[in-house]
Amino acid sequence: MNPFSPEKVLYNMHYWEVMERMEIPPPLCVQLSPTNLCNLDCVWCMAEKQRTDPETATARFPEWAVDELPGFLSDWGVGAVYITGGGEPLMWRPVDDLIRNLRKADIQIGLYTNGVLLNHHKHILPSLDWLGVSVDAGNAEDYDALKGGGHDFERVVENIRMACLDEGLEVTWKFVMYPGNLKGMFRAAELAEAIGCKYIHFRPAAPRWWDNKKTQFTKAAVRMAMENLAKAHKLLDGIKVIGGTGKYNQHFEVEHPFKTCHAVGMWATFEADGTLQLCCDHKNNPALTLCRWDDLSEVAALWGGLKHQEIMASIDVSKCPKCTQSKANELYEQFCMRDETWKFFI
Ligand SMILES: C[S@@+](CC[C@H](N)C(=O)[O-])C[C@H]1O[C@@H](n2cnc3c(N)ncnc32)[C@H](O)[C@@H]1O
Ligand code: SF4
Ligand code: SF4
Repeated sequence: MNPFSPEKVLYNMHYWEVMERMEIPPPLCVQLSPTNLCNLDCVWCMAEKQRTDPETATARFPEWAVDELPGFLSDWGVGAVYITGGGEPLMWRPVDDLIRNLRKADIQIGLYTNGVLLNHHKHILPSLDWLGVSVDAGNAEDYDALKGGGHDFERVVENIRMACLDEGLEVTWKFVMYPGNLKGMFRAAELAEAIGCKYIHFRPAAPRWWDNKKTQFTKAAVRMAMENLAKAHKLLDGIKVIGGTGKYNQHFEVEHPFKTCHAVGMWATFEADGTLQLCCDHKNNPALTLCRWDDLSEVAALWGGLKHQEIMASIDVSKCPKCTQSKANELYEQFCMRDETWKFFI
């Protein structure tokens, strides 16, 4: 197993036992998306809607969140937080203070960033448990062509090299596979190994919830991606190469091996525009909004209540995009709804 193994959700079966009684306990983990602003423009960006919709494009956390959110989350029982987007979290100036306060509240912290501004946030690296830097390319040309032409490839690589010097920090080079960057996969893995990353994590660009599940990949592109993954696995032993293709079929099309969603009871996203979203794969989808989080006491009061239960029951999984919590949904159905494994006969 590794940090990207979806089976790790099995550790949290005690949570499902509560859900089987039709209760929804506080989330295991939440995402914080402090801003919808971004300094890049990746062609596959799942947050594109919220980054470009005039209503949400400039949204960011209120400053009081720095002091209030960590204590609230800790009291609520949340043990782990992803800081992500929305847009690019390091573009929200108070993010360092938020991270420091989350650490003081004894919450585990992971940060997703495009890495462009990482050199300005060196001092918060020791407060993080893990860092995922979305580079998504093995050379500057692909980077510029697919990520909005920021000319930042070398700078991001140097920033990752700097982060890797922090021995307590687990650093992953993240790589969204897309038809235009597949030739650079092996070079990216070599570079990631050379600068000290522990992991390189490849996964296909997922269609967004408004894309109607269309895949960008031809058969030849899928073959090239799988060959490059195999080559990196075989030839590189100083880095762990992860192929995150489990949520897709052999054509890199989204497939859901479950019929109901229970994952929207397990985590949530505090969005920059002040809404609490129940699914990170449905960014900016009002159907998955539980409430606003400006009043944190309302979040605790509404979580697990009738509205939450109704949203959970109304989800039509066949219309869902790539499901980050696919394995959780699959295992919940198998163990809690059907027990196809005779789970007590070990
Ligand atoms: C939405 S971004 C926000 C944080 C930051 N701006 C970044 O890019 O890391 C969070 C993660 O989602 C990934 N991502 C964005 N769109 C995606 C898509 N369509 N399919 C798969 N991953 C995607 C990004 O590469 C990044 O690793
Ligand atoms: S850097 Fe992150 S938020 Fe910005 S466009 Fe790329 S994926 Fe989207
Ligand atoms: S993608 Fe669909 S099934 Fe998966 S967690 Fe989100 S709402 Fe649930």
